[in-house]
Amino acid sequence: MGVGLDHLQGLYAQTSDPWGFEHSAYEQAKFAATRAALSQSGYRSAFELGCGNGQLARHLIDLCARYTGMDAVASALRAARQAVPQGRFVQGFYPGPLPEGDFDLLILSEVLYFLDRAGLEQLAIDIQARWPQAEIICVTWLGPTGNPLQGEEALKGFAQALAARDFARLTQTDDYRIDRALPGSGE
Ligand SMILES: C[S@@+](CC[C@H](N)C(=O)[O-])C[C@H]1O[C@@H](n2cnc3c(N)ncnc32)[C@H](O)[C@@H]1O
Repeated sequence: MGVGLDHLQGLYAQTSDPWGFEHSAYEQAKFAATRAALSQSGYRSAFELGCGNGQLARHLIDLCARYTGMDAVASALRAARQAVPQGRFVQGFYPGPLPEGDFDLLILSEVLYFLDRAGLEQLAIDIQARWPQAEIICVTWLGPTGNPLQGEEALKGFAQALAARDFARLTQTDDYRIDRALPGSGE
């Protein structure tokens, strides 16, 4: 089992910023590193699964003509809509329907290790079926997650399930790593 909806809602019960994304210097530096990991200076349409309160989106939005974020938690999305008014935000718990869109950038930042192996495999199937050419960015916490899957375990499971794409590690600190699959990689 992945992390359940009740648990996610509990994380946001007292605050719309449970990880301190808005003010933490660590998170701000990680957002900058995520931005630097993008291969292009502009994207037609980006999608972020597990967008939380929109703080990462705030750092990427000027590079995206359109941006769609999806999260399971309504209060996170309310905060995201305030942080990034020009974004489109949809509520959904994955595995489940993903939004419509002609996405050329998929952002999977600190979300894979909330899923279970079946969810990771389904995500790989969905991506391959709908956005086989999108650039994919994965940001992965390397410390203990407190979830059934650890960060690198989840990343590995996802990358193996999406065998049609080649992921390269771009950045690694003591705390996180950033991996990217470019359009056309793995062909
Ligand atoms: C650690 S936050 C990451 C936020 C943002 N992507 C970032 O990197 O700053 C993880 C987010 O993923 C959401 N999430 C986790 N599992 C999910 C699922 N199965 N479906 C949809 N959203 C999920 C959580 O509600 C939370 O807002």
